[in-house]
Parts: sequence; structure tokens; C-alpha cells
Amino acid sequence: MRPEETSIMTNKYFRKVLVVGGGNVGVLLAYALVSSSARPGVYVLVRNPQYLKLFREEGVKIVTPDGMSLRLEGVHFISYDDLRRLGLFDLIMVATKAYDSLEAVKQVREFLGSGGVLVTCQNGLRSYEEALEILGPNKTVAMVLNHGVYRLGNREFKWIGGSTSYLGGKGISRELLSSIASLLKILSVQVVDDIEPYRWLKLAVNAAINPLTALYEVKNKLIIIDENLFKIAAMVVAETQRVAEKYGVVMPADPLKEVVRVAEATGENYSSMLQDIIWGKRTEVDYINGEVVVRGWRVGVSTPVNEVLWLMMKYKESLKRKT
Ligand SMILES: NC(=O)c1ccc[n+]([C@@H]2O[C@H](COP(=O)([O-])OP(=O)(O)OC[C@H]3O[C@@H](n4cnc5c(N)ncnc54)[C@H](OP(=O)(O)O)[C@@H]3O)[C@@H](O)[C@H]2O)c1
Repeated sequence: MRPEETSIMTNKYFRKVLVVGGGNVGVLLAYALVSSSARPGVYVLVRNPQYLKLFREEGVKIVTPDGMSLRLEGVHFISYDDLRRLGLFDLIMVATKAYDSLEAVKQVREFLGSGGVLVTCQNGLRSYEEALEILGPNKTVAMVLNHGVYRLGNREFKWIGGSTSYLGGKGISRELLSSIASLLKILSVQVVDDIEPYRWLKLAVNAAINPLTALYEVKNKLIIIDENLFKIAAMVVAETQRVAEKYGVVMPADPLKEVVRVAEATGENYSSMLQDIIWGKRTEVDYINGEVVVRGWRVGVSTPVNEVLWLMMKYKESLKRKT
């Protein structure tokens, strides 16, 4: 059997895929899906009419980590009106920000086929839990996406690369998860039995790097260059680890070493939280440091450093919105 045949066979489940959100991650996922040898039908739901028109008329470009600028071919950009005419989907991938994901899941749930599954891709905690509550464990998957992508222009995106990403779900068969992973092969997605440790590891890294870089408006590398910022990052990580342990979660790697690795690997980049501040957008701090604090309250672990960063970020957000 040729490798391509194997791949097509293992993807008998997912012939029609809906990506919700035509932002950074939505475009990267669409690119990964159309690059897959299984060639599913790929539909990207774009809610902003101006972007929808632009993407349809002029196309979308993605710059790959090796610097190639490619036109995204074979992707259908659709509106909510189109969605109603398209019937059911085998796979839905929610690529909105964390604060939009609950509403997005509610809007698209009726378009998920009876054997279909929905994947949440958000950073932080809560989006997966909210989707789980709506759809149940047999239909909900969490992905920890360890790749970076940002917008270069209205219809141009830069994929900066990344490392292994992870996929898991409490009630989903390994066969089904492997099928999704094979569709996203170019993002080197690994299926894991328990996704929680990977979600908490990414949470710890984001909780340390994102608010500090956003508050001080510095590149990621400053976290490991400046000894004071590094000390605060270490406190954030220690608190997050204490909360995780109370939930029985053992992270798959030392979170502080992971902070150092990520700050080195992405040293010249601006964190997504800083980018949101620069663009005057809401940040995901409620779902990152905020979730560490709230989960800590629930199990009696105090997390004062995360709480201070959370409050400072909320004030910073309000300043940016006023200008
Ligand atoms: N970017 C990265 O490198 C990266 C890496 C790993 C994980 N993540 C996580 O992935 C998530 C998405 O991040 P992103 O950078 O892709 O954000 P983004 O560029 O802001 O894209 C989100 C998109 O979702 C759209 N949207 C929101 N609600 C919608 C709805 N109900 N229906 C249809 N579309 C909807 C938004 O539309 P509008 O333009 O109308 O608001 C926007 O285009 C975040 O949780 C982030 O933390 C990002």
C-alpha cells in the first residue's frame, strides 16, 4: 500500500472540515488541511464581511517558516449564510480567541454531523471545558498548538514555525484522534492519552511570558535577559505548578525550563498579548493568569503574583481601549 493510500484510508472520517475564524490560526489550520494528502473539503467561516470579500476576491497569502510566500489554494471562505446551505461537517475546528469560543461553539454546533467532532485550539483554560459542557466528551477534542502565526497585512499571514503540538480528548478514540493528527501533519501533531498536562504546561509558559512582555512592551527574550523579569516569571510558574498539582496534573516538562526554551526560540517575537495591546484589542489574560487565580481559589491555593499580573493587564487593556 502506498503511503498516500494509508493516509486517505485513515481519514475516512473527515471529508468535510469547517474552520471557525479566518484569523491567524484559522488560516494556518486551513493551510495545513489543504496540504494534507487526504484532501478534505476545507471551509473557513469568516464573520467580518470586509475580510470575507477580500479573501474571496484577492485570496489569502501565507509566508512559510522557510520564507516562501504562497497563495492559499483550495479553501472555501464562507459566511454564516453560506454555512446554512452547506449541510453537516465531519470536523469543526474553532480558531477564535478564547473569549469568543463559547459563542462560536453555540453558533456552529448544529452543523456538526452525528459522528463528527469539534476541536478547540485556544490558549489558556476554559474554552475546551465550555465546549465539553455543550457537546459532551465524545465530540470534543483539545489541541495545544505550539506554532506561531501572525498577520502581516489584511490578507497575508506569517507562519513562524513551532514545535510538536498535542491533541487529546477524554472520550474520543485514538483512531479518530490520529485521523485528525494526520490531517494536520505539517504541524507535527502528536496524539496523547491525557491532554491536561500539556494544556497546563502551555498555560504556565503563557502566564509567565505574556503579561510581563505586554506590560513592559518588550520582546520575549527580555524574560530571560533581565534577571528581575525572570524572577517574576519563576514565581508565576511556581504558583501555576502548585495549582496544577492540586488538580492532580503533572506537567510533562519542567515549566521553568520550558519558559527559557520558548523565550529563547521566540526571542525576537512580540507575544500575542503584547500584539493585542498594540492593536487595541482585548487580551486573553482572563483565560491565562485569570484562570490560574480562579482555579487556585477553588482548591485553596493562593496565587498573588498571577493575580497582580492579571489586574495590571486588565488596567493596561482599559488604557489601550480608551486611546
Ligand atoms: N496566533 C498564534 O500564533 C497562536 C498560536 C497558538 C495558539 N493560539 C490561540 O489560538 C486562538 C486564536 O488566535 P488567533 O491569533 O488566530 O486570533 P485572531 O487572529 O484574532 O483570529 C480569531 C478570528 O476568529 C474570528 N471569530 C471570532 N468569533 C467568531 C465567530 N463566532 N464566528 C466566526 N469567526 C469568529 C475573529 O473574527 P473578527 O476579526 O471578526 O474578530 C478572528 O478573525 C487564541 O486562543 C490563541 O491564544 C494562537
